[in-house]
Amino acid sequence: KILIYDFGSQYTQLIARRVRELNVYCEIFPYNHEPKINHADYKGVILSGSPHSVLEDDAPNFDVSDIRGKMPLLGVCFGAQMLAHQNGGTVARSEHREYGRANLDFIDHTSPMFKGIPAESQVWMSHGDTITNLPDNFKVIASTSSIPVAAYRLLGEETFGIQFHPEVTHSKDGKFMLQDFVVGVCGCKQDWTPESFVDATVAELKEKLGDDEVILGLSGGVDSSVAAVLLHRAIGKNLYCIFVDNGLLRKNEFDSVLESYKGLGLNVKGVNSKDLFYTELEGKTDPEAKRKAIGKVFVDVFEMESKLVENAKWLGQGTIYPDVIESISVKGPSATIKSHHNVGGLPDYMKLKVVEPLNTLFKDEVRLVGKTLNIPDEILGRHPFPGPGLGIRILGDVTAEKVAILQEVDHIFIQGLKDHGLYDQVWQAGAMLLPVQSVGVMGDERTYEKVVALRAVSSLDGMTADWVHLPYEFLAEISNNIINRVKGVNRVVYDISSKPPATIEWE
Ligand code: XMP
Repeated sequence: KILIYDFGSQYTQLIARRVRELNVYCEIFPYNHEPKINHADYKGVILSGSPHSVLEDDAPNFDVSDIRGKMPLLGVCFGAQMLAHQNGGTVARSEHREYGRANLDFIDHTSPMFKGIPAESQVWMSHGDTITNLPDNFKVIASTSSIPVAAYRLLGEETFGIQFHPEVTHSKDGKFMLQDFVVGVCGCKQDWTPESFVDATVAELKEKLGDDEVILGLSGGVDSSVAAVLLHRAIGKNLYCIFVDNGLLRKNEFDSVLESYKGLGLNVKGVNSKDLFYTELEGKTDPEAKRKAIGKVFVDVFEMESKLVENAKWLGQGTIYPDVIESISVKGPSATIKSHHNVGGLPDYMKLKVVEPLNTLFKDEVRLVGKTLNIPDEILGRHPFPGPGLGIRILGDVTAEKVAILQEVDHIFIQGLKDHGLYDQVWQAGAMLLPVQSVGVMGDERTYEKVVALRAVSSLDGMTADWVHLPYEFLAEISNNIINRVKGVNRVVYDISSKPPATIEWE
């Protein structure tokens, strides 16, 4: 496997994604990680980019003496500059920021990296500093017209530096460059596949859990579903799943999801707790207060249900790798803008040990593993849906009546996306019930009813998002259907804000 040291670049996770796409397993750790990492466990090391400059006084200055010359080492962007700087090379502020596409105009095809890379290959630059002078035993292996040191190697050892970003898809041959390093130089075998992951994980889980019982909360989403099926493969009937109806799910979702889980052979208990949630939400209008209320009831219900599984020793969770990376990141857990994700968290006194079979996987890998496990596309292809569900899509206080209205609106919109083949082109979609009324006219009558906003976004990971330019004809049809069929709604608007500065949800 490959070790990636993170210096805080926005692209670090992409390096890992690309390496994994080569079917080579890799792990990311912050450069300042404690305890120190045992390099003998890895076949090569990659140093990431960074928002810092080596010219800053307090720039990360990472000691590579344990790695350099002992095993293959590749510095990317800041990583490359740091290696050059540490060895007496010169790094200087660029005259202007180098950002965007560039073409290589020199490639040393005799170097172990860049072997099959075509002349003029397009690469992606994103840096404010540039290497102007290399130390003696460093040799340039690629340049562009404005950047003489686009890549270098150290003579006599397997150390390389790349100024641009091979991990970004705009670097057309970046994947082959990484392959040259990971496979060619480091000698990694390309045998890390979803199938091998499933086999290895099931074996590990069997060993770790033995005859222990595990409880897992299902949400209907991709992660918890795949985690459950994987655990089920390992321990069968010793896995107890709980699926809570919080009264804030989509129309018919509770029954249909419960059905598909049963179809997968899971032992699932569906718990109808709608009223508990509605009662706790009564009169609450502040989004964070609503989130807390929903989280609290969820924990109460889950706790009550899990007491029924008397011998349970473990709590299964669908945590995925980006959550893990975030919690150990260079800067520490990033500031929470909303009290997000994975409703609740369980009270300490439940004293269950946690088992997280997906905590080394990225989202797209979770889907691939799900496919290997024969989980239906209907579950794997689902849009993300927030834990507090429609509770944060009804602006203001939540009531059963409002939920019923929003469920109808949402259903018309989502079903419409599916019927028009648009569902898979959209990363997430939904409807918001606004706390305003507007005047309308139906037949001869004046109406004074609710307004709903539709939202559909494209995104990679929910961190940034853009609104989707859905066809006007589609929006017209959906708007008509909603106003004609859903009693109490007389106006539909479409949200055309990107994130940032807006967020995906309205609360
Ligand atoms: P925002 O609104 O912050 O949402 O742009 C980004 C992604 O996170 C989801 N989201 C949540 N998920 N609990 C969750 O489990 C929450 O409280 C929550 N709030 C937002 C949102 O649906 C989007 O996918």
